[in-house]
Order: sequence, then structure tokens, then C-alpha cells
Amino acid sequence: MGTFLVTGGTGVLGRVIVERLREGGHEVRVLSRRAGAGTHVGDLESGAGVVEAASGVDAIVHAASNSRRFGNTDVAQTDTVIRAAADAGVGNLAYVSIVGIDRIPFRYYRNKLACEQRIVESDVPHTILRATQFHELIASALLVAGRLPITPLPLDFRFQPVAAAEVAVRAAELAVGSPLGFAPDFGGPQVLTLRELIDIWRQVHPHPRAVPMPLPGRIAKSFRAGFNTCPDHADGTLSWSDYARTATVDPYAARK
Ligand SMILES: NC(=O)c1ccc[n+]([C@@H]2O[C@H](COP(=O)([O-])OP(=O)(O)OC[C@H]3O[C@@H](n4cnc5c(N)ncnc54)[C@H](OP(=O)(O)O)[C@@H]3O)[C@@H](O)[C@H]2O)c1
Repeated sequence: MGTFLVTGGTGVLGRVIVERLREGGHEVRVLSRRAGAGTHVGDLESGAGVVEAASGVDAIVHAASNSRRFGNTDVAQTDTVIRAAADAGVGNLAYVSIVGIDRIPFRYYRNKLACEQRIVESDVPHTILRATQFHELIASALLVAGRLPITPLPLDFRFQPVAAAEVAVRAAELAVGSPLGFAPDFGGPQVLTLRELIDIWRQVHPHPRAVPMPLPGRIAKSFRAGFNTCPDHADGTLSWSDYARTATVDPYAARK
């Protein structure tokens, strides 16, 4: 059994990674900026507490991200993790990334891509897992959109949403195993347009009432083309309709 550090172990994905690793009998440290939220207080932006949290661990799962600010500190945060991983001599640094970030010129994705590059160019043995958008993220967006009477949305965007819990199982397995470099992508069971996702959602939830919002530009074109999907890796099993039926609270609400 090993000792793991999970950054982002208080987040929607990270919480389940921590549970899975603990169920596997591993000792798991959880880094958080908030005292009491994890096992170790630390800040990847300032670096405070990170080396201490990583000292003596066998592997690190890096699932922290500053997505609300488009990942504008993610590269610095990842550099901090790489340094701590190198100091600790970890056998595997597992990084959770996003499908299609090399093809979609969205600011958050460019930052994630730069993080991947830093890890690949480091001397630290690593595994990078790219996943598609989580059911939880889409549900969160729809619950927020539902607060308005009518919401313009890009209904022709394509998604292949996946349960965060299923990505977490895969990420935990990869972290325990040998470093793979890039692991196969991990996506949900179906590719659906946003219109289809909302139609399914509205079988259970009254909102949002959406109208098409035509968006110009390369980013919109990429999402319309489904560059963020991986139909050849439809490995998740929980469908959007089964997830939507049980989704009542915004999984990201605590972070807003
Ligand atoms: N959401 C999706 O649809 C999706 C899809 C594919 C891949 N991913 C990737 O999966 C990962 C997890 O996403 P998520 O949606 O589960 O994230 P999340 O719920 O927003 O959680 C973000 C985590 O990052 C931590 N964090 C942020 N800044 C930090 C800092 N300066 N120092 C230490 N910790 C910091 C937070 O910890 P504290 O607040 O406790 O400090 C929190 O645990 C991300 O890398 C994301 O890009 C997400």
C-alpha cells in the first residue's frame, strides 16, 4: 500500500479520487488552502505547505485547478507540484486534464495544455488523463442558467459528459499503476448536442428555457465540431439522463 497526495482533493473530482484511494487501503493526504478541509493546509500558488505535504509520498494526483479564473495560475501551480514531486522522488505524478485542449483555443484549455507540457518536459514520471466535461459541470451550468426566465445558449455545441466519479475511479487506478505518459482519453457514454442535453434535463427539471445563441469564432466552431469529445473512448457508463434524474443540487455551489 502506498502514500498519496491529492491536490484538489476537496473538489468535485478530487473528493472521489481520495475516497477510491482510501478504499484501496492507501494512505491519502489531501492538500487544501482551507484549514480543516483536507489533511494538509497548502497553497499551490504561493507554494506554502506543499513540500511538507508531498514529503515521503509515493505518488501525487494533481487535480487542483483554478478554473473559475480560466486557469490563469494553473501553470504556476503545476510548476509547484512538479518541484514537490521531484523533491519527494515520486514514482508517478497523475495529472487530470481535458479532452481536446490541443485543438480548442479556449483560454482555460491553453493553460491546461501548458500544464501538460510542463509535466511532459519534467523529469518526473507521470501519467496524464484527459477526460471530457463532467455531468456535474453541465448540471451546474444548467442550474445557474435556470435562474433566468429565458437563457440564450449555444445549443449546437457538442458534449460527451461523464460522471466525475467514473473519471475518479480511472484517475485513482492510474495513480496507483506505473507511469504511462498519456493515458487513453476518458469520455462519457454518448455525444449529445447542448440542445439534446437540455431536452433530457427538462424531462425532470423545469428550467432552463433556452433559446439558440449563435456564436462566431474558432472556439465556438471547435465545440460545434465536438473537438472536446472522444467517441472512440466512450468508457463512462452513467448516462446523462440517469444522472439528470438524480441531480438536485449544484455540485459546484459550495465553490461559487
Ligand atoms: N469539471 C470538468 O468538467 C472537468 C473535465 C475534465 C477535466 N477536469 C479537470 O479535473 C480537475 C478537477 O476539476 P473539478 O471540476 O473537480 O475542480 P473543482 O471542484 O473546481 O476543485 C478545484 C480544486 O482545486 C483546489 N485548488 C485551487 N486552487 C488551489 C491552490 N492555489 N492551492 C491548492 N489547491 C487549490 C481547490 O482546493 P481548496 O479550495 O480546498 O483549496 C479544489 O479542491 C481540474 O484539473 C479540471 O481541469 C474537469
